[in-house]
Amino acid sequence: MITLGIESSCDETAVALVEDASVLSNEVSSSVHLHAPYGGVIPEIASRYHVEYIYPATKKALEDASRTIEDVDLIAVTQGPGLPGSLLTGVAYAKALSFAGDIPIVGVNHLYAHILSCFLDRDKPGDVKSKFPFIGMVVSGGHTSTYVCASSNDFEVLGRTLDDAVGEAFDKVAKILDLGYPGGPIVEKRALAYKGKDVIDFPRALVKDGKNLDFSFSGIKTAVLYYWRDSAKTEEIKDIICFSFQEAVIDVIISKIKRVFAATGIKRFAVGGGVINNETLRKRICGLCRTEKVELFLPRKEFCSDNAAMIAALGEEIFNSEGPDTFSLNAKPGLYR
Ligand code: KG4
Ligand code: ZN
Repeated sequence: MITLGIESSCDETAVALVEDASVLSNEVSSSVHLHAPYGGVIPEIASRYHVEYIYPATKKALEDASRTIEDVDLIAVTQGPGLPGSLLTGVAYAKALSFAGDIPIVGVNHLYAHILSCFLDRDKPGDVKSKFPFIGMVVSGGHTSTYVCASSNDFEVLGRTLDDAVGEAFDKVAKILDLGYPGGPIVEKRALAYKGKDVIDFPRALVKDGKNLDFSFSGIKTAVLYYWRDSAKTEEIKDIICFSFQEAVIDVIISKIKRVFAATGIKRFAVGGGVINNETLRKRICGLCRTEKVELFLPRKEFCSDNAAMIAALGEEIFNSEGPDTFSLNAKPGLYR
């Protein structure tokens, strides 16, 4: 079965072809360079970029996979959450393709797809299903959440951020320090390069109450802002801030994952989203899972950030488990959440 995935929830216009959980092509065209001067995504620019690049991205994905649209058995499209104008572009385009080619279509939750990205190009068909139930986590630019994943369409939220997402905090810290956008990779690079001994004790929110599973990253962002404002503003201080900030947010994430393991007793864990690109975070999570004897699934690097292969993979799972009658995008509530 060949699934064409379409992703347009934020600033990546992505189209991919997936055949039984293995990736045939994975085309990602990003408008990040257009947002960089503003230090964050400008929704109007993102939408216009999708309109322009969604067709070339589709052509490229089909060409790379040596397939034509006639070979496609299913269309999977991100239905939310995301920027409304960006989502609308992808959904309208997917519906048109579905209508013109009489191809079934399924709407996919972007966050659940990030979690399923852990199984892309790693498992034989059908293997994803055998991994349920597991703990899922999304660490991205818009979300920081943990779930019990019972099946491809049954994700129960355990904890979520009450304000900023972790990736957003990385981006804002980079903006405060005038380091560029997106901030995550730059802050990580600075943190890794720092070999000094000075560490700033930035706040670790919501960790004192041993049971709380939610996150909050707005306080640390403000703490960085005030620290930088009152500092000597040298390059070395930027490095110390990046290192200390990264340590603090990773400490928080690790302590919350530990709590989720204890609260659920589930021994499988899959974590996706742009922030899982971060090597220090990956290492700390690997260490924790080793100690706790939890089976860990991490996405390959090319599937951490927004992509359409993960959308196709989840669409395929939903199609296979729920059958063709569940597909009306219109029937799904909260389409543009
Ligand atoms: O999943 P993603 O591509 O888009 C959303 O769905 O939000 O995640 C993008 C986020 C950005 O905030 C970016 O700064 C962050 O992921 N990110 C990182 C790293 N690479 C990307 N954060 C920390 N360390 C990284 N190496
Ligand atoms: Zn994402």
